[in-house]
Amino acid sequence: MIILGIETSCDETAAAVVKNGREILTNVVASSVSLHRKTGGIIPEVAAREQLKYILPVIKKALNKIPRQKIDALAVTTGPGLIGSLLVGVEAAKALCYTWQKPAVPINHLQAHLYANWLNPQSSTPQLPALGLVVSGGHTDLIYLKNHGQIKWLGGTRDDAAGECFDKCARLLGLGYPGGPAISQAAQKVNHKTRKTFQLPRPMIYEDNFDFSFSGLKTAVLHQVQKNLSLKEKAALAWEIQEAISDVLVTKTKKAMEKYQIKAVLLAGGVIANPRLREKMGQQIKGVPVFIPPINLCTDNATFIASCAEFNFHPFPWSKIQADSSLEIEEVIK
Ligand code: KG4
Ligand code: ZN
Repeated sequence: MIILGIETSCDETAAAVVKNGREILTNVVASSVSLHRKTGGIIPEVAAREQLKYILPVIKKALNKIPRQKIDALAVTTGPGLIGSLLVGVEAAKALCYTWQKPAVPINHLQAHLYANWLNPQSSTPQLPALGLVVSGGHTDLIYLKNHGQIKWLGGTRDDAAGECFDKCARLLGLGYPGGPAISQAAQKVNHKTRKTFQLPRPMIYEDNFDFSFSGLKTAVLHQVQKNLSLKEKAALAWEIQEAISDVLVTKTKKAMEKYQIKAVLLAGGVIANPRLREKMGQQIKGVPVFIPPINLCTDNATFIASCAEFNFHPFPWSKIQADSSLEIEEVIK
């Protein structure tokens, strides 16, 4: 099938056309991040207004040179996310489905992130069952994917998501928004021979569950920042933040691998763009292939929305599709 995906869950307005769930024909992303940089974070209403501005030009660009007769279906993110942003994509998709008379597939953004691993031209097809780790600005979830659509949610964050922790720590350090890329850039400047050593907690790392907690880490960073750090010390602290978050994510993933018989580990979400986390996952996960999407497919875009729809093709009457800001992953395996 050829599927047009539409993604507007947060501050990216994205549309993409994907063939057979694996081949990206077009991928267009407009981001309002520069506006949010000015306010140090996302103001939902500002994000929604930007979505409105970009949605039609982005869809038009994604369809450039692809006649709409070739599109077999539309896939759209219905949640989770910011409601004002989600509504823009959902209503645009509904209007197109109505006028073009095409099937509509509602998609869960979190589940879809994993499908970035089916879109990497450099890698083979992931084998299932697999263990998925989705680490984004709003979520940190471990998922057992027995087959497409056969999902068990193993655990998630009890407070802040890993991306949120990066963003909040960066703000405390005065590094700007979004915090994840800012922290990894600051950490790259560290001189390992002379760096001051900071000790940050690895919350819940050895607890007997698949849950996460990152708010304590943020508080520990606050205590350090209050000591008026030099630029060099800030770089060393940024390095340690990366280490602490990566250690927890790697250890919990390894723990889940002990319990579930899997053939692959699938990493996904904006935080997986972090170079140190990619390196540690690659080095420390052994026994099964680890799939790590290219950086542009880790952060929000519509290619994985379209791919997810191909492998989980459940069309819905367009008029019944609704945005749901707190949409949860539908667990089929209990
Ligand atoms: O998946 P995503 O693009 O959007 C959501 O669905 O939330 O993830 C955004 C999150 C932000 O918190 C951002 O700071 C984080 O991903 N991020 C990173 C990096 N690039 C983006 N975190 C750590 N290191 C990075 N290089
Ligand atoms: Zn996302």
